[in-house]
Amino acid sequence: MAKVTRLGVLTGGGDCPGLNAVLRGLVKASAFDHDMQVVGFVDGYAGLIKDHTRRLDSDAVSGILARGGTILGSSNKDNPFRVPTKVNGETKFEDRSDEALRNFDRYGLDLLVVIGGDGSLTIANQLAEKGMPVIGIPKTIDNDLGATDVTFGFDTALSTACAALDKLHTTAESHHRIMVLEVMGRYAGWIALEAGLSGGGDIILIPEIPFRVESAVAAIKNRRFQGRYYTLIVIAEGAKDQSGDMHVAKVVEDSPDALRLGGIGAWLASELEKQLETEVRVTVLGHLQRGGTPSAFDRILGTRYGVHAAHCAAQGMRNVMVSLRGTSITEVPLAEAVQSLRRVDPNSEIVRVARSVGTRFGDE
Ligand code: F6P
Repeated sequence: MAKVTRLGVLTGGGDCPGLNAVLRGLVKASAFDHDMQVVGFVDGYAGLIKDHTRRLDSDAVSGILARGGTILGSSNKDNPFRVPTKVNGETKFEDRSDEALRNFDRYGLDLLVVIGGDGSLTIANQLAEKGMPVIGIPKTIDNDLGATDVTFGFDTALSTACAALDKLHTTAESHHRIMVLEVMGRYAGWIALEAGLSGGGDIILIPEIPFRVESAVAAIKNRRFQGRYYTLIVIAEGAKDQSGDMHVAKVVEDSPDALRLGGIGAWLASELEKQLETEVRVTVLGHLQRGGTPSAFDRILGTRYGVHAAHCAAQGMRNVMVSLRGTSITEVPLAEAVQSLRRVDPNSEIVRVARSVGTRFGDE
């Protein structure tokens, strides 16, 4: 096998805390352990399509470990297989993946490292099918990738949501109010479940367990009966009542996943106000969950993923995704990795634990 000398890297999809730790781990291990150079594509796949790069050497990644965001920029719209172009005022989509391959070759790259969630890794897999060797690194605050136990970014988002609940707790108690906290997570309830469990949420509503408003009302009344005149509700943006409808805030046509969820917290609050004749307040945590300094856990996991990706590349591995299994970092075939989303199992131990401490899920 010819020695691997040059890697490309991009950060795709929604940003999340720990991306810079991954870049730092990848670049430093490439340089120090394997004498490989790294070229960064700017703004996710946009950089690969438009040939916009940045040389990443160990100086370029020095001092970024604690920084949120990504020094490379990211995009959750750009896809080389579906580039929007205006033709006579109408938007048409073009496949420009051949240009992406040409740009990859122009830099004499042996392999592209894609740090992304399911959307970006699915595109990486399509590029692999066209002959571009890739390695994936699982990123997302949603923690919804099946082929790894944890994605980096989740832990920081979870801490932000837990801290928000701690703050809401005191004000809810002072005013005897019902407080609804809407959190992100797309079609998975991990952030809501674990924030609710760690922050003492009284009711947790997640996509995997359809809820009834009446059940939440009964839980609130029951708390009042026990002398607790406030209630904290954590609701995932993708939660659904038993009608099965999700609340879509916006449709972004040129994005791989066009739906932007949001609004269910406000809807629930108005339903509860109707039935309980009491004040309900809503906090939508939004992008606060994606920004800011990564937790120590995310910095370490990100560094481990980045370093492992460099080792895999140097050993000639292709078309794999690095993954955390138990306490070990390993790798799995990328084609398999992009096929399994990880959602909360309603019968899992963690849900049962929450129920055992009196948490309601709106299905009782
Ligand atoms: O996938 C990460 C995520 O933050 C989701 O939790 C959320 O639904 C979505 O991205 C928000 O996307 P945008 O940044 O486009 O609003």
